Amino acid sequence: MSDEYIVLKEISKRFAGGVVALDKVTIDIRMGEVLALLGENGAGKSTLIKILYGVYSADEGSIYINGRRVDVHSPTEAIKYGIVMVSQHPQLIDTLSVVENLALGLRNFNAFTSIRKISSFILEKSREFGVKVDPWEKVWRLTYTQKQLVEILRAMLLKARVILLDEALTYLPLEEKKKFYKFIKEFTAKGGSTVVITHKIPEALDVADRIAVLRRGRLVGIVEGTSARIEDVRRMMFGESAAEITYEKLPASQPGGRVVIETQDLWVTGDFGEDAVRGVDLRVREGEVVGIAGIVGNGQRELTQALMGLRKASRGRILIDGRNVTNRGIHEVREVGVGYIPDSPLALGISIDNSMAENIAALYQRKSALINWSEVYKVASSLIETYRIVIPGADSLIKVLSGGNIMKAVVSKEINYCKKALIAHNPTRALDEVSAAMVRRSIKEKAINNGVAVLLVSEDLDEIYQVSDSIHVMNSGKLYGPFPPDEAERSKVEHLMVI
Ligand SMILES: Nc1ncnc2c1ncn2[C@@H]1O[C@H](COP(=O)(O)OP(=O)(O)OP(=O)(O)O)[C@@H](O)[C@H]1O
Ligand SMILES: [Mg+2]
Repeated sequence: MSDEYIVLKEISKRFAGGVVALDKVTIDIRMGEVLALLGENGAGKSTLIKILYGVYSADEGSIYINGRRVDVHSPTEAIKYGIVMVSQHPQLIDTLSVVENLALGLRNFNAFTSIRKISSFILEKSREFGVKVDPWEKVWRLTYTQKQLVEILRAMLLKARVILLDEALTYLPLEEKKKFYKFIKEFTAKGGSTVVITHKIPEALDVADRIAVLRRGRLVGIVEGTSARIEDVRRMMFGESAAEITYEKLPASQPGGRVVIETQDLWVTGDFGEDAVRGVDLRVREGEVVGIAGIVGNGQRELTQALMGLRKASRGRILIDGRNVTNRGIHEVREVGVGYIPDSPLALGISIDNSMAENIAALYQRKSALINWSEVYKVASSLIETYRIVIPGADSLIKVLSGGNIMKAVVSKEINYCKKALIAHNPTRALDEVSAAMVRRSIKEKAINNGVAVLLVSEDLDEIYQVSDSIHVMNSGKLYGPFPPDEAERSKVEHLMVI
């Protein structure tokens, strides 16, 4: 490992409302290393990375690159220093092709722009990577994995020396995530450097040379990736609360006899006109948690959207609490008392330009025209407290929250809202381990204590096994099962996910 390339020295950042996001944080980033940046939701990870990338400016402190003090005022400047960020949300232009997107990005930096060269670069790298990308395909037709690969390729074309990944791999299926990590390892072996933000500690231990932990805006410490133990890292991240992390099976429900969520021979069309859901028969009884396991992109999204009335069923019926709600729209489904944690919470789950209180009001307002604000604030405060949402107050706009705290806002209001049913799609994604454990517990409690029928769709098989009373697998639009949540039979479920 060669010398440190970047030093962030005593960086502090405060936001309006007295939020201290970073307090005198000093970290060096070395060439040839993977540095993992860990910390609970709201710890300051994204803020630190954004300061290095020129999105925010620090209130105090300095940045050194190659021993020289620099000011990074914008991402354009950061890229000139060889620093490129890839976030969770691909920043590509949907209506352009892959090549056009990459050429556009390069033009600003006087890098080579020959379309032919870019196109053969894409072909070569995608072959190496094992994920096919047609350079002339329009970006809107790409899968999420392909888009993230294009983002990484852009970073390489920009001659990145340091790649910053702010949960950029969080949304990828496990197998493909492994390919990205392999790619990153090769990049750093050739002298590049990568900063990885993730909530999965085992991943960090696996891939990182060093692990830096932030807590409440402060650097707790930096440990060696090879020798660190998971318990120690958790303790650095969460302190005493680390004891709340559990992956043990939660108590089983005693489902009632009534079926609350039911589909009969349900067919749903996907974005490309294909049959994304193919003849699904599903039944979830009151008080029961039914898990649907599967690799992303096998119809889960279309199924949950159809259940919520957000996507048309082309054939079949959807009954909720005995009511035929097929193609009746989300309002009618909501009226029955259905909570919904969508796969894309920013697009469908919450309005980030409104406050926590306003988002809660919007959910309850469907019942009466007049909003009972004192009730709304009571609910907001209790959710903020129960779910430990890091937010200045119920009046704060959602967009000032950290990624995980936005997720907690979505999840808490939906769990609170549901009366009859809860449809939860990846409800703990972007959450730290303590928050994720709490959310899983409260979903189960809602089923046991309130008789809510829960449909839990998750790409995280451990999560499915921890919470579910019965398990299905979704593959190529078809539903298999139910299977008992019996670890002994888990291999059958795993096999059905990949056939
Ligand atoms: N633009 C902003 N305006 C006001 N406050 C902000 C802004 N951006 C971040 N914050 C606050 O700064 C703190 C740190 O947020 P940051 O996004 O860095 O956390 P994080 O460690 O990335 O968390 P997560 O794991 O949830 O993504 C949070 O309390 C957040 O609410
Ligand atoms: Mg973040």
